[in-house]
Amino acid sequence: MSFAQEIVCSRCRKRFPLSELLNLCPCGSPLLVRYDLEKAKTAFAKSALAGRVASLWRYRELLPLQDEANLISLGEGYTPLLDAKRLGAELGLQQLWIKDEAQNPTGSFKDRGLSLAISRAKEFGVRKAAIPSAGNAGGSFAAYAARAGIEAHVFMPRDTPAANQIEVAQYGAKLTLVDGLINDCGRIIAERKAAEGWFDVSTLKEPYRVEGKKTMGYEIAEQLNWRLPDVIIYPTGGGTGLIGMWKAFGELEEMGWIGSARPRMVSVQASGCAPIVKAFADNKASAEPWPNAQTVASGLRVPQAVADFLMLQILRESGGTALSVSDDEMLAEIPRVGKAEGIFFCPEGAACVAALRGLVANGWIKPDEEVIIFNTASGLKYLDVIQRNLAEN
Ligand SMILES: Cc1ncc(COP(=O)(O)O)c(C=O)c1O
Repeated sequence: MSFAQEIVCSRCRKRFPLSELLNLCPCGSPLLVRYDLEKAKTAFAKSALAGRVASLWRYRELLPLQDEANLISLGEGYTPLLDAKRLGAELGLQQLWIKDEAQNPTGSFKDRGLSLAISRAKEFGVRKAAIPSAGNAGGSFAAYAARAGIEAHVFMPRDTPAANQIEVAQYGAKLTLVDGLINDCGRIIAERKAAEGWFDVSTLKEPYRVEGKKTMGYEIAEQLNWRLPDVIIYPTGGGTGLIGMWKAFGELEEMGWIGSARPRMVSVQASGCAPIVKAFADNKASAEPWPNAQTVASGLRVPQAVADFLMLQILRESGGTALSVSDDEMLAEIPRVGKAEGIFFCPEGAACVAALRGLVANGWIKPDEEVIIFNTASGLKYLDVIQRNLAEN
């Protein structure tokens, strides 16, 4: 069923068997799944996808699940790539697409990673798991853990949007609100996990969430009939989506499903928390922790990411860039894109629109270039944030 072969460290290249339940490499870096793509090249054809399930599991040969009996799915992935004609025209672009991740089961793209991570956790017989979350991952984790019968513990900053807090409890998970940020939540889990018997599902601190997120890359290629756009703009926190999509493009090329052309990858962050933007501008290989991180885009409130070096490599290798936008800029885009396209964007997705506006205005993106932006979650998850903003302005 799967061409997954082994697990390899993204930094020191140490190799591990697929049969081992893993978190980080002993060197402290993220672990990634490697596939036998030579074999896949001959044994798996694009045409096999026709008529398959409209979820990310249509790519099951390129995912690490070993036994289908362990598959935990709510129908995640295979979200539409919507032709944004009106927004594109307003911005002066001939071809703009919106990858609408709000249409995932719990309303965000986090479902992709958590379907994979929880399915694999089930495969290993994990009984209890814990996650630090900036918001959407917590709700998604709680949903998939419920479906798998795994006891779930979610740690979130106290000021996470209400929807994220409420949904965690409705899926039967234990929610702990922390006076701090996602990194503080992660630290608490690291301290308690041995005594509590929790498996740590922090992003990129186990090898499988990124495998789920990489399917955004497969889908873009498939939805564009096996070619890629000129530019992809992605709201970046932990960077799992960016890293996953880049991995997907490499895998597709190795299988001969796409050529060597790659999009310029653009990382968008909030001006109140922009460690990757700063490291990119300073030409650094890794990022400094961002002090006093603040933004209404809770998914972007990630002051330090374990895979910072991978994101920076990808941005440079792709000829991309990194830029930040203010909370006011992103919030102003939500009703604009709502009116133009009928899609209720989350602040993180709206940050992509604000960034795109700037990149077209300064000529970094040309009118005839094909661009994809991501709406990573539904605006419905941020009603309190948006209402507060309306009241203040
Ligand atoms: C809505 C939303 N967009 C973007 C992100 C950042 O995603 P990534 O960790 O893949 O960089 C998050 C993460 O919490 C999120 O919830």
